[in-house]
Amino acid sequence: MADALKVGIAGLGTVGASLVRIIQNRANELAVTCGRPIEITAVTARDRKRDRGIDISGITWFDTPQKLAAEADIDVFVELIGGANGPAAESVRAALERGLHVVTANKALLAASGVELARIAEDKGALLNFEAAVAGGIPVIKALRESLTGNTVSRVYGIMNGTCNYILTRMEKEGLSFADCLREAQRLGYAEADPAFDIEGNDTAHKLAILTTLAFGTEIAADEIYLEGITNISIEDIRAASDLGYRIKLLGVAQKTESGIEQRVHPTMVPHDSVIAQVDGVTNAVAIESDILGELLMVGPGAGGNATASAVLGDIADIAKSRPGAQRVPVLGTPAAALAPYKRARMRSHEGGYFIRITVVDRTGVFASIAARMAENNISLESIMQRANPETADDSPKTIILVTHATTEASIRKAVDAIKAESYLVGEPQVIRIERPKAF
Ligand SMILES: NC(=O)c1ccc[n+]([C@@H]2O[C@H](COP(=O)([O-])OP(=O)(O)OC[C@H]3O[C@@H](n4cnc5c(N)ncnc54)[C@H](OP(=O)(O)O)[C@@H]3O)[C@@H](O)[C@H]2O)c1
Repeated sequence: MADALKVGIAGLGTVGASLVRIIQNRANELAVTCGRPIEITAVTARDRKRDRGIDISGITWFDTPQKLAAEADIDVFVELIGGANGPAAESVRAALERGLHVVTANKALLAASGVELARIAEDKGALLNFEAAVAGGIPVIKALRESLTGNTVSRVYGIMNGTCNYILTRMEKEGLSFADCLREAQRLGYAEADPAFDIEGNDTAHKLAILTTLAFGTEIAADEIYLEGITNISIEDIRAASDLGYRIKLLGVAQKTESGIEQRVHPTMVPHDSVIAQVDGVTNAVAIESDILGELLMVGPGAGGNATASAVLGDIADIAKSRPGAQRVPVLGTPAAALAPYKRARMRSHEGGYFIRITVVDRTGVFASIAARMAENNISLESIMQRANPETADDSPKTIILVTHATTEASIRKAVDAIKAESYLVGEPQVIRIERPKAF
């Protein structure tokens, strides 16, 4: 049997500890499938004394990730710390500069510096694998990077944040408020103590930026993403969506249009009978539409120690099976030097259907006025209805729900601005985009 593949792991938290456990428990099976043993020879974390429920007694401990990356006797550096800067970024750079293969689950780092890191890896003939960085255990990176080569991708979209999907699912199923569901998610460990990064959509945006590059062969453009989180979604929106045959999901969508690439993360209404609408709780889903294959939809665990470690282990196994000097798969699907500049499509030119919820003073002519503001902006309506609230007085404000046929974001913004200028409006109108899956 060939020499062992020597692995150094930086970060022994949720993912790192699971990875150590799995590699140790499955040593024999891994040696057979990979044709060589996988051996963890170096580790690091912040606190050497912490009980992690794993046995690292025979493994060399390094005090910092940077030192491990620079000095350890390893073939592969596995980064499971997290963060776009600091020790994670510094140690990954150092390992690649040394010509080591790198495996990481760090979407923040890739979204910020993926192209630069890909260049270093490709210059050094090293592999940089990051399957776990997007949608946890779902093998979407490999699908885009390798399996769909030759396809022209037109759209990639998905549910890529388990915290948001958990909150939206609980709101719908149990009629609870956003705040209550967030508290429950925190209690169960699905949401961080500071949940802003998840619920504001930034986490989904990082993942989307990586998928966009793999799908369209353009440079990573994480700062060019239209971003709206789920904090403004109310139980009224969820109920209205349900009555109209939709469910609300936080989607990340990257789409090729005539004027460039749209990258957007926002609450989205998807038809109730679509498969993605059925993806509940912390589960993730990613759909890819391409010309040769058609639509591919992958659903599975997007987070958690074991699911994420499964993807990291797959990446390590790929390295164990690869031959030295063999042609490498480009890190981002296209060689870093050949990635096209990113061309952003303006959000105002986005085309699609819209849901609009408006609260108005109950007076004659309001319905007609709203319909007129829509017509003036060439927006054709699929439905318009007034929702009665049996618990409130007859003359209290009323809710009007509109669903439009496909139109442009610019038209919607103009129509909504016109309605905002009307004296009958109460509060802020709610606007939610509708996304229609092609096949499923
Ligand atoms: N958890 C998931 O479900 C999941 C899913 C997909 C991707 N990821 C990604 O996987 C990576 C790891 O996530 P995680 O959930 O395992 O994080 P975690 O539980 O917070 O673990 C982070 C680990 O990094 C170590 N660490 C932090 N700062 C360090 C430093 N300055 N020097 C050395 N070690 C340091 C910590 O050491 P101590 O233990 O001593 O504090 C800990 O062992 C992140 O990039 C994350 O985005 C996670």
